[in-house]
Amino acid sequence: MHDPLKLLLIDDDAIDRKMFKKYLKAFPEDGFSILEFETGEAGLEYCSRQKPDCMLLDYSLPDLNGLEFLSQLENTSFPILMLTGQGDETIAVEAMKLGVQDYLVKDNITPTYLMSAINNAIKISKSEKQRKHAEEALILANDRLENRVKERTSRLEETNKKLVAAKELAESANSAKSIFLSKMSHELRTPIHAILGFTQLLQMDTKNPLADYQQENMESVYSAGNHLLDLINEVLDLSKIETGNFQLSIDRVDIIPIVDNVISISQSLANEKGISLKYEEIPRESCFVEIDAMRFKQAVLNLISNAIKYNKPTGSVLISFKRQEIGRLRIGVQDTGYGISEDKQDKIFQPFERLGEETGTIEGAGIGLTISKQFIEAMGGTIGFESVYQEGSLFYIDVPVSE
Ligand SMILES: Nc1ncnc2c1ncn2[C@@H]1O[C@H](COP(=O)(O)OP(=O)(O)OP(=O)(O)O)[C@@H](O)[C@H]1O
Ligand SMILES: [Mg+2]
Repeated sequence: MHDPLKLLLIDDDAIDRKMFKKYLKAFPEDGFSILEFETGEAGLEYCSRQKPDCMLLDYSLPDLNGLEFLSQLENTSFPILMLTGQGDETIAVEAMKLGVQDYLVKDNITPTYLMSAINNAIKISKSEKQRKHAEEALILANDRLENRVKERTSRLEETNKKLVAAKELAESANSAKSIFLSKMSHELRTPIHAILGFTQLLQMDTKNPLADYQQENMESVYSAGNHLLDLINEVLDLSKIETGNFQLSIDRVDIIPIVDNVISISQSLANEKGISLKYEEIPRESCFVEIDAMRFKQAVLNLISNAIKYNKPTGSVLISFKRQEIGRLRIGVQDTGYGISEDKQDKIFQPFERLGEETGTIEGAGIGLTISKQFIEAMGGTIGFESVYQEGSLFYIDVPVSE
């Protein structure tokens, strides 16, 4: 059993009060405990200390009228029903605007009407409270969500700012590196040209001929100097690519003599290593493509020299031409070397990546493929490879055919 609901009855008319009490007692199951006050002041004083569950308020009290009472009432969180005489309805409507739940015209009140008005008022006030609670909880949840979103956004902005700063730093460091490489390789080229030039002069001097052993030593100086020049040129190319400082001159050219020329240049390296260089399926007639002949030659030269350098002793290199799907020609360089293991394949076009060869005896800077890829792609071609570990690799370049 819970406590009976507290009903406050404020009415100066003792007969009316008695009547209302009688009406309410006709419904003992609703069990109200009724508190009576004759004046507005007394009612207000009670409400300043306690909160009833419902209030029946007579509009015309001896000290205050209903509107005055309501404006002085501090706590209005319980339902109030106004009791009016015939003809006071307009005022009662005003009172409803101030929060009164309903008004009852005294002469029309019956026990059932009174009871259902009170119960309704209590029910509405309860659901009103629940709705308010739910609304407040929703507002709170929204606020929390909004705060979390704001917090996340600001953290994201912070991270973005850091990323942009880091990117700018990396870009400026990279461009400083490219400028340095470009300047350095220019500076290095002048003395190396002098070394190569004077070496040749000494070798060709017929008035003061070199002794045989001196000729041999000069050969070594010349070949090492040439190798150094190649490396310097490669680094220069790479820095040009990185600074976007290169131009291609694309022409319609016959590819056969170009590849022929690369093969003859590579022949001495192949002989030195005991590797056989073979052509496969050479087209009989000319074969025109759209390329930058010099850069293309450089790329094919790197593929063939790689195929020789990274081959097995007495291995072979096969150069082939094959028509691809619409408008493309594939130049293939197949070797019988050690191949490239799968875990290393995605690194092969990265600059200065030698896939473990850096500790071996084979010379190289690890940028030949990086440069080739950049140049070939810039001229509208593609470069790629297929490799079987321990068996060999096929590197290829596809270029646009000119009909
Ligand atoms: N045909 C091949 N077979 C096996 N490994 C290869 C082959 N071609 C390239 N590689 C591997 O890829 C690496 C990168 O080749 P890349 O041509 O870029 O540089 P490099 O030959 O080392 O030096 P360089 O810059 O003088 O060409 C090589 O060091 C080698 O380990
Ligand atoms: Mg190479």
